[in-house]
Amino acid sequence: MQFKKFVDRLPIPPVIKSRKTTKNNPYVVSMVQTRHQFHQNLPKTKVWAYNGLVPGPTFEVKKDKPIYVKWKNKLPKKHFLPIDTTIHGASHTPEVRTVVHLHGSPSAPASDGHPEAWFTKNFGQTGPEFVTKTYKYPNRERATTLWYHDHALGITRLNVYAGLAGLYLIRDEEEKALPLPKGKYEVPLIVQDKSFNPDGSLFYPAQPSNPSPDLPFPSIVPGFFGETIVVNGKVWPYLNVEPRKYRFRIVNASNSRAYQFQLSNSQSFFLIGTDGGLLERPIEVQSLLVGSAERIDIVVDFSKLQGETIILQNQFELGNPTGDVMAFKVTKPLKGKDNSQVPAILSNIDHIPLTEVKKVRHLTLVETQDEFGRPMLLLDGKEWDDPVTETPLLDSVEIWELENITDGGHPIHLHLVDFLVLERRDSNGNLKQPLPTDFGLKDTVTVNAGETVRIIMRFEPFAGKYVWHCHKLEHEDHDMMRPLTIRKHKKS
Ligand code: C2O
Ligand code: CU
Ligand code: CU
Repeated sequence: MQFKKFVDRLPIPPVIKSRKTTKNNPYVVSMVQTRHQFHQNLPKTKVWAYNGLVPGPTFEVKKDKPIYVKWKNKLPKKHFLPIDTTIHGASHTPEVRTVVHLHGSPSAPASDGHPEAWFTKNFGQTGPEFVTKTYKYPNRERATTLWYHDHALGITRLNVYAGLAGLYLIRDEEEKALPLPKGKYEVPLIVQDKSFNPDGSLFYPAQPSNPSPDLPFPSIVPGFFGETIVVNGKVWPYLNVEPRKYRFRIVNASNSRAYQFQLSNSQSFFLIGTDGGLLERPIEVQSLLVGSAERIDIVVDFSKLQGETIILQNQFELGNPTGDVMAFKVTKPLKGKDNSQVPAILSNIDHIPLTEVKKVRHLTLVETQDEFGRPMLLLDGKEWDDPVTETPLLDSVEIWELENITDGGHPIHLHLVDFLVLERRDSNGNLKQPLPTDFGLKDTVTVNAGETVRIIMRFEPFAGKYVWHCHKLEHEDHDMMRPLTIRKHKKS
């Protein structure tokens, strides 16, 4: 399929109308099958969508004001993407299972969207970890960009690819007081990659490109890389902007693809926040690495670019169609003076003293093969079903050393906590220069091939069953996920 680039205007996902919710009167969001137009030259595409929208509706909530959400599954009984029943969770279970995870939120275990807390249409059947139909989100963290997405065991990659992902913004007074670009000058960008068949339907490979005869059919693929880049539900869109500063809240919601974002005129821009909210100080950058599920909060100044078109690009793929992400056309007249600024001090981040560390875990990211000879990536050599080994004590501080001995990068995500990156080392043990995003709070960190990344976090505020995993969804679905159980203190 050939697509004309930058002909569809960037949509902004609608915000769910805010109101007071309770356990008995929650927001209700339904997952439905519908059709969505990804590009003006493409017939409408069958998708699965929260409230019928791709991406889903945006939640905008205030810090410390909890909300309740009832996620309803109104999807068909059959999946429209190729199911591999040989992987964990996908045999002897109903074909279409869903469960919603609010990525980056310290939710209680019952509301976290555990991969085995899935439910089928109208809660007809539920998984072994299912607890409640209505989820509570405490919203206790700092202002930041979270996102919600499907997390059903063994089909997360397919459910998210089908359309089940959306944005969730937390606001607070501290951020509101800053002179950052606001209102229509603050724009969310949910970046995904998709491939389409000529009839407009979504294409997802049913097997690897060079399958051996012993493979099951369909068979999971080691990674998915779409032929087009989709932002806020449109293929290669454009946004008309004024010659002034804009704030972009970027989520990489792609299955496997990593982006090294840069601007086509090589202009620098400011990183002001990461997964866990604002940095202490802005960092001026030329480009930024963003793995699956990572978020960046940036400010771009178009003030000297009147009349120009600037392309947001992926430096990893320059020269290929997918090297372009979207276009900013500086065509709008300036509607009044731009009084926004990137302040020199943005926020304060609590750094945990190293004296509080209770345990250091060395965990390897390794490649092996499954029973069909397919490449399988594992966390510390263990599969999803192996007994739980990461069992931190509630409120305790740990350092995890993630050593990647595979030949690809892995965006590693822990549920419940935000962490700080302490250092990166190369395969010879030499300290590497930190990435700009390493200066912010993170819930997902890319560990590049050969690297060891040390992270520090305090496991709070809830005990119970969570998970940690690679956020390349094809890895996650193929055993690159492990239980994470936070233990309560023994009563003395
Ligand atoms: Cu965004 Cu466990 O996932
Ligand atoms: Cu998560
Ligand atoms: Cu991975």
